[in-house]
Amino acid sequence: MKILVTGGAGYIGSHTCVELLNENYEVVVLDNLSNSSEESLTRVKNITGKSLEFYKADLLDKKEIASVFQDHKIDSVIHFAGLKAVGESVLVPLKYFHNNISGTLNLLEVMDDFNVKNIVFSSSATVYGNPASLPIKEDFPLSATNPYGRTKLMTEEILQDVYCSDKSWNIALLRYFNPVGAHESGKIGEDPFGIPNNLAPYISRVAAGFLPRVNVFGNDYDTLDGTGVRDFIHVVDLALGHIKTLPKLFTNPGVVIYNLGTGQGYSVLEMIKGFEAASGKTIPYKITDRRPGDIAACFADPFKAKKELGWEANKTLADMCTDTWNWQKKNPDGYRESQGEN
Ligand code: NAD
Ligand code: WQD
Repeated sequence: MKILVTGGAGYIGSHTCVELLNENYEVVVLDNLSNSSEESLTRVKNITGKSLEFYKADLLDKKEIASVFQDHKIDSVIHFAGLKAVGESVLVPLKYFHNNISGTLNLLEVMDDFNVKNIVFSSSATVYGNPASLPIKEDFPLSATNPYGRTKLMTEEILQDVYCSDKSWNIALLRYFNPVGAHESGKIGEDPFGIPNNLAPYISRVAAGFLPRVNVFGNDYDTLDGTGVRDFIHVVDLALGHIKTLPKLFTNPGVVIYNLGTGQGYSVLEMIKGFEAASGKTIPYKITDRRPGDIAACFADPFKAKKELGWEANKTLADMCTDTWNWQKKNPDGYRESQGEN
């Protein structure tokens, strides 16, 4: 069975490629490398001892997408490719709408042309906006609070409309909570360009001595210790969620929606403590103002995925911190310092 992975060179995509190859799927990756490096795919091959096909191609170019479908008989697409920085999306919304929406429309049109109608889409817990209660279930009301979130919500709606028009499509909308961690080999992990926006890579840069301290965005939230609470999920657990979703797609379920989270919330300070334990280092931090747009707490009810897919997250906060730190230590410059012992 052959799977096209768009955005497969990226953080979640590369970890999913590993698990797909481990399960003996054939893998074709399409990525324009706008936020990733081809080195990640070299490492994927190295970890699994298996090979995959790579196309450096852009979803904004329909001809480039079509050439992949001409060369390969694809059974299903896992669609990770997209821009994902919330702050940037507020500054340049058109870039986000163009890339994430037009890119997806091109992909869907080419899939339709080649009669490939199975797709797993990377959605996000951001589509729940500021939820009225916790834990969050899949049938909660949806809203977007920034252009990035709106691209996720709009894409979910586009996919629902596509299914309504043609019931031969099978579509899984996977709403990820907060992916962190790295493959336990330390060969692949999250490699943000510049100063990270997200908590885990930021803490890890502080632990490594590249940044002086963590800025904790507010300690006056209505949470256990006043800092923000999130459902951090290990990226390998998340990748395995995709592996469990594929067989479901092949049962012709129509549109299915699942939260991929652990169901357990941890605070920013608990995350810092977790990294201190994993790295054996003291991590300096400073309480600063709240970050505009942040919510106090967010965690999933992951029961639907357990019941219908037989999937649940197994890795602990300690695993998430240990594996992030292992990746950071072995790759201080991410993939830019390639070829070494990795
Ligand atoms: P990432 O940036 O590491 O990976 C995305 C990949 O898509 C990159 O390799 C990038 O080069 C590629 N890409 C972007 N635009 C493209 C285009 N037009 N054509 C071809 N390739 C393109 O991000 P990630 O963290 O691995 O996220 C994967 C998906 O999951 C994204 O859709 C993201 O929005 C979604 N998601 C991520 C998180 C998170 O916190 N990491 C949470 C929820 C949802
Ligand atoms: C987590 C917590 C911050 C950085 C984002 C997107 C979301 C999804 C996942 C894609 C919050 C606090 C952070 C720092 C801090 N992505 N924090 N200091 O905001 O929950 O979710 O990534 O879909 O759409 O919005 O993740 O890691 O940025 O923040 O105190 O330097 O850490 O306030 O409470 P977030 P995050």
